[in-house]
Amino acid sequence: MTQTSVEMLPTNLNVLSVASEMYPLIKTGGLGDVVGSLPGALRTYGIKTHTLLPGYPSVMDALEGRQIVKQFDNVLGYAVTIWEGVTKNRALFVADVPALYNRAGNPYGSPTGQDWPDNGIRYAVLARIGAFIAQGYLEHWRPAVVQTHDWHSALVAAYLHYDAVEAPPVVHVIHNLAFQGIFPRNKLEEFGLPPHAFALEGLEYHGQISFLKGALFFANRLTAVSPTYAEEIQTPEHGMGLDGLLRTRSAALNGILNGLDLSEWDPMTDPAVTFPYAVGDIIGRRANKRVLQAEFGLPQTTETFLLGLVSRLTTQKGVDILAEIVPRLFEWNIQLIIVGVGDREIMRSLAELQSRYPHQLACHLHYSETLGHKLHSAVDASLIPSRFEPCGLTQLHALRYGSVPIAARVGGLSDTIVDANSAAIAEGVANGVLFAPTNSETLLVAIRRAYALFQQKSVWARLQRNGALHDVSWEGKAAEYAQLFRELAGHSPLHHNTYAEIAPRRGDILQRSFRALRRIQPARMPLGGQKSESLKSTGTYA
Ligand code: ADP
Ligand code: GLC
Repeated sequence: MTQTSVEMLPTNLNVLSVASEMYPLIKTGGLGDVVGSLPGALRTYGIKTHTLLPGYPSVMDALEGRQIVKQFDNVLGYAVTIWEGVTKNRALFVADVPALYNRAGNPYGSPTGQDWPDNGIRYAVLARIGAFIAQGYLEHWRPAVVQTHDWHSALVAAYLHYDAVEAPPVVHVIHNLAFQGIFPRNKLEEFGLPPHAFALEGLEYHGQISFLKGALFFANRLTAVSPTYAEEIQTPEHGMGLDGLLRTRSAALNGILNGLDLSEWDPMTDPAVTFPYAVGDIIGRRANKRVLQAEFGLPQTTETFLLGLVSRLTTQKGVDILAEIVPRLFEWNIQLIIVGVGDREIMRSLAELQSRYPHQLACHLHYSETLGHKLHSAVDASLIPSRFEPCGLTQLHALRYGSVPIAARVGGLSDTIVDANSAAIAEGVANGVLFAPTNSETLLVAIRRAYALFQQKSVWARLQRNGALHDVSWEGKAAEYAQLFRELAGHSPLHHNTYAEIAPRRGDILQRSFRALRRIQPARMPLGGQKSESLKSTGTYA
């Protein structure tokens, strides 16, 4: 068995990551966080990522030292300028097409919340450019592997397949199967796809075109953002109509958990934290609770159990279920602060509840990156009652900042939270409260259980400390991506090495246990797609 050290790793394996969001330039959820933070973590393993983004105004404005590296007169009917530049230590290519991307609002819709009617062509152009770069259209730079994310860039694999010219392998990351990029059949030509692409063993999906299917079918490898989600999406319950296809690709599919950029998520240096404290210092964070209560106009009582929720306000996140139990919840000494934006009906019901319970419920029904950090540094527990959760980042934020997560036992939540049942408490390994299935009764019982644990100060403190010790970093997870990229690029496999052997030591206070890198199975092309009756899809992410 050959041992490989960091010094021996082949350097500069180029990866092209194609995505629609990247923190800190543009973000509607965890997709942006992951696309923004993974490249930095991969650098440790000799992987150099260039991220291709659409030329949204915030992206164009942030691009430093930019220069034009390619101009196309006509990509699916649009003139495209490719810029290369950097921002905050991230290398970018930007597809500049003002007619498609120079708009106010979030990436997918207008400021009034309507999806852009031309979202299909907007992301087809992005993927088409990604495929051109993969094929070597930039003279100075070529990727060894292409990484795509969710439906927005899923067509890259399809273009590469139908072009049938030499191209690097594609790894598609499934962040959320609920968003599939479904468009009418008559758009096939507009998207630059051949007629035979409209087939069961292609992009056809219930009589329409599915961008996501392009990747699920044609990418060389698929990764879901947690091991449990990788299993769940192969079942009818969580497969969103694509479980049949995913089962045919199971040998090419594995789960890799998301991590956090610990320099962004450090309560000692985080500018959003009112009273800085070290990770794991549960006494040091106490003053933040009173400040947050005051800021939200709630009575400043230490003994009150203060719950927080930071989330897109959608049915995925179970916020409607939470709203349902609010009156019963407030029979106890509980306060709840909600930071979120999303579904209009959910927002309306929260606003109505807030006016009924002004001393117990406070809502900030907007997006606020600052509050998204600050909340976890101050609340006692963070609620995550998701119906499904591919990975979830908010529980990682909570664990890191000493807030105990109360979460549904689904997807990445069950991979990162150890429920405080009596055995886990006795073993000293619990770090949160899990419940299943997701409904109002189980959520209520879980909060009641957490409320009882909160009264037992030493047990609660142990949950908080265990959370702070949990490894929420990218390190082991980025190693798994690096391993996958190297295998696909034909570099010598590293599967004999554990993460501990190849990772550099970092002076973090957390203890870590590293599991051996999973041996990644060989790729297998699918035999065919299966249909399901339970089609749930939209063309948009948010
Ligand atoms: P998802 O991507 O499904 O929305 P994640 O938990 O993976 O769920 O990531 C959500 C990200 O978006 C986190 O960084 C969270 O803090 C952030 N977020 C969600 N809603 C808000 C909000 N209203 N204000 C600030 N940050 C938010
Ligand atoms: C998706 C999922 C979320 C995940 C995020 C980043 O938006 O809903 O669970 O953490 O992508 O991968």
